[in-house]
Amino acid sequence: MDKTGLYGRIAKEIAAVNAGETSMIARYATACCLLNGAFPQFYWTGFYLVDPLKPSELVVGPYQGTLGCLRIPFGKGVCGTVAASGKTVLVEDVHKFPGHIACDSKTMSEIVVPVFDKAGALAAVLDIDSTDLATFDAVDQAGLEAICKTLLL
Ligand code: SME
Repeated sequence: MDKTGLYGRIAKEIAAVNAGETSMIARYATACCLLNGAFPQFYWTGFYLVDPLKPSELVVGPYQGTLGCLRIPFGKGVCGTVAASGKTVLVEDVHKFPGHIACDSKTMSEIVVPVFDKAGALAAVLDIDSTDLATFDAVDQAGLEAICKTLLL
């Protein structure tokens, strides 16, 4: 199966597991678990959530992988850049991204995708880190953005 097909299959699995589930934590947990298991080079897959008590800060949510940093201010690192801009960022080589926050030296490339609520406000970002350089392309972006659109109720 090609990558587009794989993302389609994972999207269906996430929707099936999350059907009827109203807890956002549970819905995010399903997505990061199924995505992390689908590609061998994904070793950190998870969500940073906008902190309702500090709306210009992200706080770690459900994830799979090694210990992640707990908080990221908007504008810092890849996740904070996406939180500030509301646009997906693909990083082919994290060592060349100014201000990249290195939670684990295994990270070589990453993608961060914004998650919006039904009113269009940023709710979270999805961060996927890869052990390989240049893992992510437009197919990953399209597949992950489509999945992120289905997460919020
Ligand atoms: N690499 C991220 C930080 C989060 S961890 O990698 C889990 C960034 O620069 O935003």
